[in-house]
Amino acid sequence: MIRQPVQGSVLSLDNVDKTYSRFAKPALDRVSFDVAPGEFFSILGPSGSGKTTILRTIAGFEKPDRGRVMMAGEDVSHIPPNRRDVRTVFQSYALFPHMTVSENVQYPLRMQGMGKAERLIEAGKALELVEMGSFAVRLPHELSGGQRQRVALARAIVSRPKILLLDEPLGALDLRLRQQMQHTLVSLQKELQMAFVYVTHDQSEALSMSNRVLVMREGRIAQLGKPQDLYFEPKSEFVARFVGNSNMLPIDFVRDGETCVAMIGGVRFPGIVENEPRSGKVAVRYDDVTVDAADDGVGADALDGIVENVLFLGTNLEVNVRCGDLTIMSSIPATQTARLASGQPVRVGFNLSRAQVFHV
Ligand SMILES: Nc1ncnc2c1ncn2[C@@H]1O[C@H](COP(=O)(O)OP(=O)(O)OP(=O)(O)O)[C@@H](O)[C@H]1O
Ligand SMILES: [Mg+2]
Repeated sequence: MIRQPVQGSVLSLDNVDKTYSRFAKPALDRVSFDVAPGEFFSILGPSGSGKTTILRTIAGFEKPDRGRVMMAGEDVSHIPPNRRDVRTVFQSYALFPHMTVSENVQYPLRMQGMGKAERLIEAGKALELVEMGSFAVRLPHELSGGQRQRVALARAIVSRPKILLLDEPLGALDLRLRQQMQHTLVSLQKELQMAFVYVTHDQSEALSMSNRVLVMREGRIAQLGKPQDLYFEPKSEFVARFVGNSNMLPIDFVRDGETCVAMIGGVRFPGIVENEPRSGKVAVRYDDVTVDAADDGVGADALDGIVENVLFLGTNLEVNVRCGDLTIMSSIPATQTARLASGQPVRVGFNLSRAQVFHV
């Protein structure tokens, strides 16, 4: 199949196949996408789905078996890594231990033959951008993990590549640092107008930072779209589960006069109807599930259940309710739910206006 890369893209993959050994399943199978200049583009997927292989192919460390890698409209498939306008930040920071912070950041410029005075200025600017300006003379072992990752970032952006590849760069950091670094990355990316191709298996990270997200499954593209599209309109059960924190519940549409109404857990939910009787699964996001005390007398469209667990997650509570043989997860604002405790009988309702039905 011939595919025309989108005009003006800074990066395009065009039907890329990659199999590491002839005994293995393909690591990449017909992968095509385009990245716009200055876009924050994330690749999300479970372990082994091919994320790193995509980055290594873009960087030039892996050669596609078939298909092309294009940069700014030019086929770079045969151009070696050091001549591509790309830098990579890895999960492990890989700084040179015997060089100071400043020398580490100057390194790519030295390789390009830039003079010392200019290098020093450029390294200083890059360190300022990641708020590490006052650490220039330290050695890597004199820094914390988060600081080292900032230095690695400064070293990657110092030569102002058009494309920055980031492979789970925040994976080794604790939650608070990770959130701080997310803010740093987003502002940095806006300021530099570089295209970021950001690999993660953390859906919230991908959704919060990106212009678009590519979801990978076993070497294939499961879905590519804006965060809102993936979240509200997952095209498959896989994407709904992976991206949306969704319950996957069996649903049956049973005839009721002109239309067919939805039954979930033996209860009628007139919120969604179909024309034909059939069965499938419905994805209902945790925050579209309401949990009320059984004596609140809410309407009929609700399942009876017993609270199994209540997890306090700060602003939200995650409540796990057993309704017959279904286990239903709900996320509710912590302020509203002082009365919920495990063992308590409750009524579980659904906001089905945003639910997605998948037929089997
Ligand atoms: N050098 C290699 N030789 C052989 N097989 C490999 C090699 N690198 C990766 N693979 C295989 O290719 C597939 C994709 O691997 P890849 O590293 O791209 O996954 P990933 O999505 O980055 O996973 P993770 O989230 O665990 O980093 C896996 O099945 C993996 O075992
Ligand atoms: Mg990987």
